[in-house]
Amino acid sequence: MNPKPRILVARAVFPETLARLEQHFEVEHNQADAAWSRQDLVARLQGKAGAFTTGTERIDADVLAACTDLKVCANMAVGYNNFDLPAMSARKVLGTNTPDVLTETTADFGFALLMATARRIAESEHYLRAGKWTKWSFDMFAGAEVHGSTLGILGMGRIGQGIARRGAHGFGMNVIYHNRSRLTPELEVACKARYVGKEELLRTADHLVLVLPYSAESHHAIGSAELAQMKPTATLVNIARGGIVDDAALAQALREQRIAAAGLDVFEGEPKVHPDLLTVPNVVLTPHIASATVRTRRAMADLAADNLIGFLVHGKPVTPLNPDVLA
Ligand code: GLV
Repeated sequence: MNPKPRILVARAVFPETLARLEQHFEVEHNQADAAWSRQDLVARLQGKAGAFTTGTERIDADVLAACTDLKVCANMAVGYNNFDLPAMSARKVLGTNTPDVLTETTADFGFALLMATARRIAESEHYLRAGKWTKWSFDMFAGAEVHGSTLGILGMGRIGQGIARRGAHGFGMNVIYHNRSRLTPELEVACKARYVGKEELLRTADHLVLVLPYSAESHHAIGSAELAQMKPTATLVNIARGGIVDDAALAQALREQRIAAAGLDVFEGEPKVHPDLLTVPNVVLTPHIASATVRTRRAMADLAADNLIGFLVHGKPVTPLNPDVLA
């Protein structure tokens, strides 16, 4: 009998996921969730055919050159900007991600962050906890209207469409979006969303939600010039990736009230957060948890495991990112 393929699980996962992987593979894991350096990662990948990764392990040309047994990296995330996909294809290393299983949960969170930001929920809770609430007043924490307002979405993939449907059908919002490519007419009708140019999106949205993938092109897609085009009453929500927003420029715009408020689940250089964002009151900050419900995180872990088993055991991954490798 052939020995089981060897894999590395780079971060802590559900014990059930590990047990399932151990049925098929010889597994080295990191259930202690120790912070491995790049060198540690490379050392532990020696002799491994597969890696179970999250968005935090960078798999680039240098790592690939040093890990010549590697055949597949399965991300437990829909985003995969930690993968240098062209370098992976060049080395015939497959990358996989976890689309679909997190779409609705992430859209729920995007909407929750929009609501919390527009209605100043975190800011007012801090005020209350600090013992500052001594009397009610007519304009206390008066925020921005959500129902009937204009929802702008930058990046109209599956999660963007989920947010559009929630806004249009649940809150009677006027939905506009900008994306690299336009949706089909059927999808535009289902989302009740109208395609606009980026400038119109920035100028018109009352609430702007970012749901686009991170890439060299989307780096600082929202910087001081874009923030200057937004309404002073607008809110900005980023559930996409750190680096899409210039966090220093955003903190300054918030401090100067050039936009009303922001809700951020992702940050440049996370888990570090730009210190200026920690001191402005009109921002809601969460630690990259948009897909974090127990059921969805289990579904993501299962799909990442399915990809490793599918590819290394049966030659058929479920959600390949660079299927050219399979040819
Ligand atoms: C989370 O950020 C993901 O990409 O799944």
